[in-house]
Amino acid sequence: MKVAVIGSGTMGSGIAQVTATAGCYVKIYDTSSEALSKSKSALEKTLAMLLERGKIDDSEKNRMSNSIAYVNDLNELSDADLVIEAIVENLEIKRKLFSELENIVSEHTILASNTSSLSIASIAASCEKSDRVIGIHFFNPAPLMQLVEVIPAIQTSEEVLNKTIQIISDWKKVVAVAKDTPGFIVNRLARPFYGEALRLYEEGKADFATIDWAMKTFGGFRMGPFELMDFIGHDVNYIVTETVFTAFYFDPRYKPSFTQKRLLEAGFLGKKSGRGFYNYSEAMPLPTE
Ligand code: NAI
Repeated sequence: MKVAVIGSGTMGSGIAQVTATAGCYVKIYDTSSEALSKSKSALEKTLAMLLERGKIDDSEKNRMSNSIAYVNDLNELSDADLVIEAIVENLEIKRKLFSELENIVSEHTILASNTSSLSIASIAASCEKSDRVIGIHFFNPAPLMQLVEVIPAIQTSEEVLNKTIQIISDWKKVVAVAKDTPGFIVNRLARPFYGEALRLYEEGKADFATIDWAMKTFGGFRMGPFELMDFIGHDVNYIVTETVFTAFYFDPRYKPSFTQKRLLEAGFLGKKSGRGFYNYSEAMPLPTE
């Protein structure tokens, strides 16, 4: 099976690894050649690590490396059976991309978005053949997280839904079919989790490290809410909250936080930029709280 992944950032790179592991040929496209080469070297590092730990052998490492191509021309995706888009979380940019894609791929190609919160119906509406558009929402890190939400839009055909469920199951992932509502299942449920943690911190009830510690020690969570936001990236996390808040007609349960907005504006995006709530580069001073 030939898969195309659009966007070679955190999610696109992880999804490409999942598909290559499953034996597919994958082309990964990005408008930024810097992002493409970063993605390539990250994958090579991961494969070397998997080899060292004995999880894969030399021939599997070579097979996987050879099954991923990094391309900077959208037209090279013309032979894909399935396209998974993982670009910036912006509806207009995604819609533009999907309408361009329709002129490149075959009419049988399934067009999927990895959006965290945007309307699949609205993305599908940018295509003439909208019944082949669907949401395939992986979680971060895609190679490790078992769950994948599959979201049919009202336009999506039964055939495309069933095919998609089969493909994702063949990739050894667990599928949850979700309705096309803002944030689907997990990202909607997670909003009050992050939101209440941010409110506790903003009200000065506890510092963020204490909240993380409490949730891990007593709540049984693997990561506290602030560690998790830093891991996801404040750009992605804030935008998802803003989208869900707006899409639910400004329901205060999903209200975004100014603290997080300021981190985003300062470029303190979390782990990927070296600093978020926590500091990931020794050169920078730790935040005071
Ligand atoms: P990212 O910022 O790491 O990567 C996005 C990539 O898309 C960048 O390399 C950028 O150069 C590229 N890009 C932007 N516009 C483009 C265009 N028009 N054509 C081609 N490439 C373009 O973002 P990330 O975190 O990988 O998120 C991607 C998508 O996945 C978003 O829709 C996000 O909401 C969703 N998502 C993110 C998760 C996360 O934890 N980070 C989890 C699940 C879904």
